[in-house]
Amino acid sequence: MKKLYGVIGDPIAHSLSPAMHNKEFKELGIDAHYHPFRIEGKDLKTAVEGMKVIGIDGFNVTIPHKTAIIPLLDKIDPLAGAIGAVNTVVRENGFFVGYNTDGAGFVESLKEDWKKDLAGERTLIIGAGGAAKAIYYTLLSIGVQRVDIANRTIQKAEALISGQPYDADSKALTLEEAEAKVGEYSLIIQTTSIGMAPELNKSPISLKGISASAFVSDIIYNPAESLFLKQARQKGAKTQNGLGMLVYQGALAFEKWTNVKPDAARMKRTLTNILG
Ligand code: ATR
Repeated sequence: MKKLYGVIGDPIAHSLSPAMHNKEFKELGIDAHYHPFRIEGKDLKTAVEGMKVIGIDGFNVTIPHKTAIIPLLDKIDPLAGAIGAVNTVVRENGFFVGYNTDGAGFVESLKEDWKKDLAGERTLIIGAGGAAKAIYYTLLSIGVQRVDIANRTIQKAEALISGQPYDADSKALTLEEAEAKVGEYSLIIQTTSIGMAPELNKSPISLKGISASAFVSDIIYNPAESLFLKQARQKGAKTQNGLGMLVYQGALAFEKWTNVKPDAARMKRTLTNILG
């Protein structure tokens, strides 16, 4: 029987995931369909119960449900529990199990575009929201030890650090402090929405002081080059945008659902074609 997958969120109309997964199902000859479902917050519990009864095989979860869904699932993967957000649900023996592939997707794309062994890198994360938390905890979980967090509201960076379950050496910084010492980092990760419409020509900090050997990543993929990445490139640094993270969070979910490793390069081409 045809397998059924999907994504729940609100809004959901502009999600790129249906096109990415459906193309990959087709290319790999997997008899499955992936559908976007707009679910309002007040309906989340009913929606999860409905998907259970209908027999949906797995689904992605996006804004605003990533945290609220946790108590509605049967089991939560420990890393997703630590992050406090689920983006992928898998039906396992009839039970809905929640995972977070956002952080792991980010790490996969970093390994692809930069290097495999990240452990020794002195890392700066800018932002302390949900995406920053997923990336921070995942980096710590693979043994990256020195990760600092800079945020406009420094208390949120402090909260991420004090809540981390690993034995990491991290500091919370203001954006001004981060800008002053940005040259000390070999890996810099931008996770805020600054650089995306309506804040297109803005950057959370200036990268004038970065080292040319630094690797600079921005989770924004539209525009393909944020002002942040442009500044980094002009200083001679290697850069990546957020498209790889989007691809790999999806590829990791795809593999959990089907036990088939999808072709991440093809998934990326599907997205690039849509984004133009
Ligand atoms: P996400 O889940 O996508 O990470 P979020 O949880 O809303 O989104 O987090 C947004 C992040 O962008 C936060 O770090 C936020 O800073 P604050 O914690 O100080 O709010 C940051 N951010 C958003 N707009 C910003 C702005 N204009 N200047 C600086 N930081 C901003």
